[in-house]
Parts: sequence; structure tokens; C-alpha cells
Amino acid sequence: MCAAPSLAQPSASVHPDLFEEIARLKKAKNAVILAHYYQEEDIQDIADFVGDSLELARAAQSTQASLIVFAGVHFMAEGAKILNPSRKVVMPDLRAGCSLSDSCPPDAFARFRAKHPDHFVVSYINCSAAIKAQSDVICTSSNAVKIVERIPRERPILFAPDRNLGAYVAKQTGREMLLWQGACIVHETFSERKIVELQVRHPDAELIAHPECEASLLQKARFIGSTSALLRHVQESPGRKFIVATEEGILHQMRRKAPTKEFIPAPPNQNCSCNECPFMKLNTLEKIHLCLRDEAPEILMPEELRLKALVPLQRMLDWSK
Ligand code: 13P
Ligand code: SF4
Repeated sequence: MCAAPSLAQPSASVHPDLFEEIARLKKAKNAVILAHYYQEEDIQDIADFVGDSLELARAAQSTQASLIVFAGVHFMAEGAKILNPSRKVVMPDLRAGCSLSDSCPPDAFARFRAKHPDHFVVSYINCSAAIKAQSDVICTSSNAVKIVERIPRERPILFAPDRNLGAYVAKQTGREMLLWQGACIVHETFSERKIVELQVRHPDAELIAHPECEASLLQKARFIGSTSALLRHVQESPGRKFIVATEEGILHQMRRKAPTKEFIPAPPNQNCSCNECPFMKLNTLEKIHLCLRDEAPEILMPEELRLKALVPLQRMLDWSK
């Protein structure tokens, strides 16, 4: 996780007062801003912590701040509330969901589980509290292999909701897993044809990818990992040039941490901005200011649901120490 630098130079499009006002409100309210790597650059720059899903969950659990402003998507803010219920958790835009989470409705998942009562249920953190509450353990992209390896070999496994991460973990661990057929709209959009064209033009570039990408793309990648693992890799690798197959927000930290290296965002299928997560990008600096000021919209959930969802989430944190 990056402890973000104090106050970055405001980008041209944002009024400098906004940066100052956010800093003032943060101090006055004893607030912390947690941001995912897929947030726009200004948000990453004003955040107190920028990290991947696992690091953000840990930061949310351990923070002493009274108010958590979660600049990410809904399941992340919900996770913060589950882990740290005495804090007020707000997010800039409640509509910031996740296609993976949406692909797994609780009722349909309950029916699926009921057909496989002997299976150990591993759910990717990109799911709602209602799915977490039906799971035995949660994982993120950075600890999924480790988590699955902890499950006794004789226990069959059901993995939800990401079929791509599930297939990748099954391959890495040699475990057979029953997969819920969900996917991320961003990571399934990369064009292999265009990536191969890029590789021909840049034969010295390493293709690196997030495990939410499809298996055929992952097969071509030199390195596969969570956003934090990708960020570490570009700093540690002797490589000078990288084709990055994940949401392009991560390039901001890559350019900052490895300023002499070159990063090429993997191109999507069409001439669109489909390698930007439309949910993550609903958050803006202006909305961060408003949610800090108004302490809304707030993440709330029934205590019974929170306690059920906490069990597998805490198990994940314990297993990935
Ligand atoms: P990370 O676990 O790398 O943070 O991934 C989160 C995510 O939503 C990827 O799409
Ligand atoms: Fe969900 Fe994909 Fe956006 Fe990540 S990038 S939050 S998995 S839609």
C-alpha cells in the first residue's frame, strides 16, 4: 500500500480551493480517505492510503479515524463497514458498483450453493455482503492462491463470482473448483489481437496482467498479479517497458514509482475507454468533497448480516497474515 504524498499539485481542471477544503475537512472531522488504484489521479493524490483490495480492507480495519471516506466501489466500502462497524463509512457515489458483484445475485447463489452442500465456498471479495454471508472464506486477487491452498484437499470447492480468477487459481493450485460464471466487464474487454500487434511493435515490452483477465490472455502474460503485485513487479523487474492488462488507473502509481520505465495500457476491443472501470470512475474529487462535508451517502447494513459477512472476511485476514 502507498502512503500517498501530502498534497499533490492540483490538476489544471480542479479548483485549488477544493484540495485545501478537502484537507481542512479531513482534519476537522478526523477522517481518512482510502482509495483504490483504479481511482482517477487526483483522488489517488489526495488519499491517505492507496492500495489493492486486501490492503484497503486491512487499512479500513485498523484505522483510528472516526470517518472513513472510501474512494472505491460499493463492495469495498461495505467491507470497511463490516470490519470496522464503529466508524462511519461514506462513499462519494453509491452507484459505484461492480459488474462482478452484480453477476452474483444472493438468491440465485443460495440455490447454487444448496445444490452443492458439501462444497467449501470461497468468494472473491468483489461480491456483496449478502454473498459474503453465504461464504466460508473470502479472498482477493492477491491472496486467492494462498487461501485455496489452506482448504483441506478432500473438500470440494465452490468459487464465486469470477470465473477467470477461479480458473487461474484452479490451475495454480491443481484444485478442481466449481465456478460461478461471473466476469469483470473491464478485464474481459482486452483485445488479444491488439495486444499481439503491440507486442510485435514493442518486442522488448513485458505483458503483465490481472488475474481477472481471460485465460487465453493470461497464458501470454509474463507476470500475473493483483494491482499491488503488478506495481511491485514493474519496480523490481529489470524490464524497461510493460504492456499493462488491467484498469488503467494503476498506471499513475507505476509512472510515479518507476519514472524511467514505459507503460503501455493494454487496448480494449473497440475504440472506447473500456479499460477504465465505469464504476470506479463515478467518483470525482467534487463528490469526495461533498461526502466529506455531508458525511453521506453512508454505508449501513443490518447487524445480523454484518456479523455473518464478518466471519469469512476475518477468516481471510487471519489466513493471509
Ligand atoms: P485488486 O485485488 O487488485 O485490488 O483488484 C480489485 C479489482 O476490482 C480488480 O478489478
Ligand atoms: Fe468490478 Fe471490474 Fe470495476 Fe474491478 S474493474 S471494480 S472487478 S467492474
